[in-house]
Amino acid sequence: MYRDSFTMTFPDDFLIGTANSAFQSEGAADRDGKSPSMMDHFARTHAGQFLPGIVKKGIRMTEEFPDDGCCFYDHFEEFIDDMKATGQNTYRLSLAWPRIIPDGTGAVNEQGLAFYDRVIDKLLACGIEPFVDLLHWDLPMALYERGGYASREFPDWFEQYAKVCFAHFKGRVRLWSTVNEPCVFITSGYADGRFPPFEKDLRKSLLAGQNVLLAHYRAVKLFRELDMGGKIGAVNAIIPVYPADFRPEDMDAARRQAQLRFDIWAEPMAYGHYPEQFFDECPMYKNAMPEGYAQELKDAFAPVDFLGINYYVTSRTADDPDAPARSKRVQTFYTQPGLKNDVYPAGLLDSLLYMRDHYPDVEVFVTENGLCTPNTGDEEEECNDDVRVSYLREHFRMLWRALQSGVNLGGYYYWNDADSYEQLSGYDQRFGLTWVDHKTFRRRWKKSRYYFQKVAQNHMVD
Ligand code: FCB
Repeated sequence: MYRDSFTMTFPDDFLIGTANSAFQSEGAADRDGKSPSMMDHFARTHAGQFLPGIVKKGIRMTEEFPDDGCCFYDHFEEFIDDMKATGQNTYRLSLAWPRIIPDGTGAVNEQGLAFYDRVIDKLLACGIEPFVDLLHWDLPMALYERGGYASREFPDWFEQYAKVCFAHFKGRVRLWSTVNEPCVFITSGYADGRFPPFEKDLRKSLLAGQNVLLAHYRAVKLFRELDMGGKIGAVNAIIPVYPADFRPEDMDAARRQAQLRFDIWAEPMAYGHYPEQFFDECPMYKNAMPEGYAQELKDAFAPVDFLGINYYVTSRTADDPDAPARSKRVQTFYTQPGLKNDVYPAGLLDSLLYMRDHYPDVEVFVTENGLCTPNTGDEEEECNDDVRVSYLREHFRMLWRALQSGVNLGGYYYWNDADSYEQLSGYDQRFGLTWVDHKTFRRRWKKSRYYFQKVAQNHMVD
């Protein structure tokens, strides 16, 4: 494509904003009729314990609870005023199912809906387009007790909940996502033992995954039937998986690992089938799938308008005939001292090009991307976050390159708007553009928020 300068500008309608989720930001975990979610429950039952899936690394679960978040419930007006002052034109949030239907099914809690009315109306009044996730992990505990995602009833429960939300917010919310990162709440939760409910049961995880896909299709169908306007999609974590060495076996292993983490969700959402090549090469998975799974998906399929990708980390993978997906992760090239996650901006571009090439009919949003830095207790240091400024700049540059390369990219959300609760690690990691004192809930813009403001207001990156 011809260009006459090195200026990197974004299209006028390109969405630039921040994201957060209900259980991580709202707080007010037991107020105004909200019931406990799975996340509330397992934070308590596993506090301070080594987790079944991460024993080797010796990582313990935090002893902190998601009860306060960043107190968005009480201070949403100030948070949204800050978003407006930042110049962002969108905000991604999730609705808490246990706040809206506390028993999971049945009676609607009007106070719950009223809270989201206030939030959404305030966003709209500030010219900020709400992007709403129906489910970001906080399944009502009452439904977990009835079998949760592994229950064949899950699609019915989810459809009922989606109906309440769609009917209520029709005309106000135009961007909807069904679920966030099933590779975490299903694969890590049921197969790897690394996430609530900390189980290691492959068969159950594949059944739960199938149920989640069917639930997702139900919500997409309902969205079309109700003639909602706007767009609907779902959010998956993408991990660019690079081969460990220059060997064809490693290349195949890397492809299998990418299929297991990403395409196993994204392909059904976009095209109505799993990546069968993965099942053919990994019979252990195929043999554990629910009977008739392919036909069941095909019959229920409803295509998305877009897919959201959450990009944080890369992976390198080697062939390993004895490992479950015949692949094993090896050290990446990008580990940095003091940072929990590797930082590799070009991995975002690789991911977006992957979407262009593998999902050409589907619009893409970067629904999450962000840097966590440890909670040092030193406010000045945490607010002078040059490392996050350069993180943002480099990732924004990759977005621009992706647009130039023909990626059908609609927008970008930085994770997260303000320092909040992080699953498994509590308040120990800070991702926010706004610094939050977790005792008093005093807020302060970090240097990165002032930088984000320049990019958002000018719709360009320097
Ligand atoms: C993603 C989650 C989000 C947040 C970030 C850091 O996997 O979607 O809730 O915790 O990681």
